[in-house]
Formats: sequence, C-alpha cells, structure tokens
Amino acid sequence: MRLGDPPAPQELDPLERVSRDELVALQLERLRHTLAYAYANVPLYRRKFDEAGVRPSDCRSPDDLVSFPFTTKEDLRSCYPYGMFAVPREQVVRIHASSGTTGAPTVVGYTRRDIDVWADLMARSIRASGGRPGDVVHVAYGYGLFTGGLGAHYGAERLGCTVVPVSGGMTPRQVRLIADLRPDIVMMTPSYLLALLDEFAVQGLDPRASSPRIGIFGAEPWTEEMRAEIEESFGLHAVDIYGLSEVMGPGVACECVESKDGLHIWEDHFYPETVDPFTGEPADEGELVLTSLTKEAMPVIRYRTRDLTRLLPGTARPAFRRMARVTGRTDDMIIVRGVNVFPTQVEELVLRTEGLSPHFQLHLTRPERLDVMTVRVEARPGFRGDRAKAGQELGRAVKESVGVSVEVEVVDPETLERSVGKLKRVIDKRDN
Ligand code: DLL
Repeated sequence: MRLGDPPAPQELDPLERVSRDELVALQLERLRHTLAYAYANVPLYRRKFDEAGVRPSDCRSPDDLVSFPFTTKEDLRSCYPYGMFAVPREQVVRIHASSGTTGAPTVVGYTRRDIDVWADLMARSIRASGGRPGDVVHVAYGYGLFTGGLGAHYGAERLGCTVVPVSGGMTPRQVRLIADLRPDIVMMTPSYLLALLDEFAVQGLDPRASSPRIGIFGAEPWTEEMRAEIEESFGLHAVDIYGLSEVMGPGVACECVESKDGLHIWEDHFYPETVDPFTGEPADEGELVLTSLTKEAMPVIRYRTRDLTRLLPGTARPAFRRMARVTGRTDDMIIVRGVNVFPTQVEELVLRTEGLSPHFQLHLTRPERLDVMTVRVEARPGFRGDRAKAGQELGRAVKESVGVSVEVEVVDPETLERSVGKLKRVIDKRDN
C-alpha cells in the first residue's frame, strides 16, 4: 500500500462506516443512557442536575444537552480521589491521574470495558494515521499515571502491531532502538521528536534514512509549520492525535493520514460542543466541551476541556465531525499588555523565519510596571547568516501578526532545555 491511501472499507470498524444519520441516532441513544446513568450513580451529577432543575429524561435530542450543567476540573478535584466513580471501586481495573502541577491531582478510573473501548479507539486512531497490523510501533509517550504510554500501547497491540514500549527519556537509547528495531511508527510529543532529532545528529545518523513512515504526535499544541518541519527533517507523515485523561486519554480524536485536515472526533463515544470560554454559550469557535457516551467507571457530562478549537464537518470519515488543531488552552493564554498571545502563534512565526530553529521559550518579566515578553530562540545549527537580523525579522512578524512588541534573543543551538514529554514553553517571572 502506498502511504496516504485510505484504508479499504473492510479494514474499518463497522461503526466507522455508518452514515451521519445513523451516527446521530446512536449518539442520542447513548447520550440519554449516559445522563440517566450518571444521575443515578454519581452524587455530584445528581446534585448539579437537581440544582439546574434538569432531569436526564429532558434530553430528547442532542441539542437539549445545552440545558445540562458543565463539569469542570474543579468538580473532579472536589471529588478526589474516587468520588466521581459510577461503579464500586472494585470494578475499576485501572487508575490514571493528571500530574497535579497546577493543583491537586485528578484521578480517573476505567472498568475492564472502558479499557477495551479505549484500546479499540486507539487502534482506530493508529489505523487512521496509516498504521496497519504487523507494523512495529515505538511508543515514547511516558508510561505511568500519564495516559499517553499505556493508551498508545494497548491500541497498537489491539491493531495487531509489534509494540516497543520505550516510554520517555534516555534519548540516546531511543535513537539506538529506532536504528536497530526499525519501527514503522513512532508515537511521542512533537517536542520530544525535536529532541530526538538533535540526538540523531550527535550519533551521526541521518533521520531521513531512518525507518519510521508515520509519527503520531499529540499531548501538546503544535502547528502546521511544525508538521512541515518534522515531516521534512524525518521524511515521515506526521499526524495529530488528541485526548485528555479526564475524558479517556489519547484517542478521543485523530487525523486521517490521507487528508491531514484536522482531527476526526470518534463521535460514537464522545459528543462534542464548542462554547464561548467566558460565557459558556454555544459558539462556532471556542472551548471544546465533551460528553462521554459509553464510559462506565467515570462518565463525564459536558466536560470543559479548556482547549480552544472549532468543529468542522467530516471528510475522510464523513459521518464524524472534525476538530481543528487545538490552538492552545484557555489557561495557556498569555496576556501581555492587554494583548492575548498563544505560544502556537509565535511557533508559526519562528518556523517561518530563516535561520531560526523550532526550539524557543517565551520569558515574561515585569522589570518596571510593564510586561515584557522575550522570545529566546535557538539559531539553526550551521546557520551562517546574521542572527541579529533573524531576530529583528521575528520581532517584526510578531508585532505585525500578533500585535505585541517582543524582544528576541537568538541563542546558540542546543542551549535551551529539551522536553521529554509535554513541553513547557512559557517561563513567567512576573510577580503578581
Ligand atoms: O495528553 C493525552 C494524550 C496523550 C493525548 C498522548 C495525545 C497523545 P492529559 O495529560 O490529560 O492527556 O492532557 C490533556 O493535553 O486538554 C490538551 O490541552 C493537551 N493536548 C492533548 N492532545 C493535544 C493535541 C493527554 N493534539 C491536554 N493538540 C489536553 C493540542 C493537546 N493539545
């Protein structure tokens, strides 16, 4: 099969082939079940529905969901550790948790069937990305409480692949394993792939001559410019995968390699909405809100993801709506002198500037009373041109397209910290 060909119909799940009407009917049935199930089994939902004066039976069409209350990260925290479970703890076969760097951790649980559905959806996502049974899959997402490693692992096994469960870190070993085991697919954060790229150079290996045909990247925002950078330097197809632990983990949505035009949301298991992040009113573009349709251990109703995107009609899987690439999280938005800035906006511009590498950080300081944003960016290795000029060019581009003045410092290659998992782009030293 030439890469990029769509899968043959018999390769898809039967549910991936349904018509939009059939899918919508299935969603409604599952949605009504989930609302009743959450109301009956999770005290928090019972209380919130009662307070809002809604009953599960009020949902007669998916549009009625807007009258149901949202669920937020704070709700999950308030139920730490097991209060959100809709089944007795003994039926929970797996726990994952968020890192808790921004507050108390949140714990999520899965029944055996939830793990099964997750494996199916990850298998579907890997196949949509171009993977096939028999492929060797190198998983460099972290294994552990983070959902990336185990989620990818179970999905790749389910598809019938040979999994190499490397987890994150020990970068020289990663490159060695890629050279020796010749994986067809690599799965990791896009920023970690950039760290691997440096290591290929250190080991004197040509990444374009390496075996992977496909990279399945997610867990952090990245841009079309970064896709081009990765595809060019590795000679592979880079596909975007999305998910979050509160809703399942990776595999809530994934791009199809034949179209690479945004992520198809697996709507037979998740119902998406977008709302204005400030008012909570439905909006064409805004914060993604997800309702699980089949989860047993921890159903989520109208979960506020804080991720900003837009819903689009299906293409490569016509029945399933797509979400546009996530531009950032509502809580990652930086406000510099009243202007809203997302790190992805700067990423696009850095990658369009000759001589600058994709490695950059945003430093925020407040030396006097005004905020200052400094883009610290590495020059590309081997760049012989004028660094100061490259920096000025970037500064001008940021001013023009984002509307904020920034300082730019172009530093030597390999001087900024590399990430092993999710990248931390912003270093905020303003004391509030
Ligand atoms: O990051 C799950 C995951 C693992 C997704 C591996 C994809 C690949 P959490 O640690 O709970 O779960 O973080 C979820 O990460 O709300 C987004 O803000 C961000 N995120 C995940 N995928 C993408 C993506 C995993 N493709 C949070 N683009 C989400 C942009 C993403 N942001």
